[in-house]
Amino acid sequence: MGYAFTLDDVAFLRSADGVAALRACAGLELSERSRLRDVATAREIVGVRAPAVLETLLLRRRARDKLAGAEDWLLTDDALQQATPTVVARHRAERLAGRDVHDVTCSIGADLVELRRTANRCLGSDLDPVRVAMARHNVPDAVVVRADALRPVSRHTVIVADPARRDARGRRRWNPADFVPALDELRQAYAQRDLVVKCAPGIDPDAVPWANERELVSLDGQVREACLWRGSVATAKRRATVLRSDGTSWSVTEDEPDECPVGEPGEWIIDPDGAVVRAGLVRHYAARHGLWQLDEHIAYLTGDRPPPGTRAFEIREFGRYREKDLRATLRRLGIGRVEILVRGLDIDPNTLRPRLKLSGDDDATVVLTRIGRSPTAFVCRAHRIP
Ligand SMILES: C[S@@+](CC[C@H](N)C(=O)[O-])C[C@H]1O[C@@H](n2cnc3c(N)ncnc32)[C@H](O)[C@@H]1O
Repeated sequence: MGYAFTLDDVAFLRSADGVAALRACAGLELSERSRLRDVATAREIVGVRAPAVLETLLLRRRARDKLAGAEDWLLTDDALQQATPTVVARHRAERLAGRDVHDVTCSIGADLVELRRTANRCLGSDLDPVRVAMARHNVPDAVVVRADALRPVSRHTVIVADPARRDARGRRRWNPADFVPALDELRQAYAQRDLVVKCAPGIDPDAVPWANERELVSLDGQVREACLWRGSVATAKRRATVLRSDGTSWSVTEDEPDECPVGEPGEWIIDPDGAVVRAGLVRHYAARHGLWQLDEHIAYLTGDRPPPGTRAFEIREFGRYREKDLRATLRRLGIGRVEILVRGLDIDPNTLRPRLKLSGDDDATVVLTRIGRSPTAFVCRAHRIP
């Protein structure tokens, strides 16, 4: 949950005294070990505002990997967890470049700060007064107001929304009707407007038939969100966007060819990025890179040349999967460590691993899957393809 900031705390932290207090405490270790000592020191320097100062310093440290340029931000624990990572927010903002945009659930401003950079005009709003005050500090050149997203306060803008998807105890909500604000109410409140809604990656497409585009977005190999686009901002029915922290990105859409044969294993196994799999674009991705499927129902691909920028698996040996045969193969190859990937078979890698009784100096990736009805094991060497 974290410390519950008040509006007074925010006013203090933004004041000259607050900035001086944050600076005076910036050198504290702030670890579990140093906690009691840090609190005593902060109380001496800052007095009753010590908890707000210490929490702010801690959250700024935690924000470093997620939010670029947040060294001076004001945050709450929950708001930081909910915040869109900068790389993802930047991608969304670039798609909206030059438009007038209203972020109706702006929270502390992780999306808003990027929208501000690309939009023609940009407005942020949120129901929570503390977050509104923090967003004003974090994105000083945006207009931020307190408003209910379900009662429109702007006209002719693209609406960006990121409803909260956790309840008060931090558990995830899966039903769009339980999002806050609820997805259908949002859609109705902005019936005639271009709308962009960030959702959980697992959202059921049938629950959002109004979305003209469903974009699955991954960052550094982890699927982060499904973004729904309605109106003139939608550009493809389905899209997978693969982002990396190093600034590189690519995407694939349903508009591309999807001719992809099913055939015998080539030299490599390729496990497409989760965004591609979740967007249902495995065949499109395969067609783009000259790959083919091992089985039309399984997302593993194969080919003789792995696509650039992927982690791919060079096949050393393969055959019908039987546990004792796999154990013998790994022993013969001197494999002491394995990564086990499974798709289409009911096998738990953590249960299987100790039963393989590994010994040796080499390592391998074992891909277990089904080709037709045959369980098949591939013993591979993993490579990061530049
Ligand atoms: C997931 S957070 C948004 C995070 C934001 N996109 C970011 O990256 O920092 C959801 C926000 O919706 C706000 N919210 C919930 N219901 C609202 C409503 N009816 N009107 C406006 N804001 C609302 C919450 O206060 C919360 O700040």
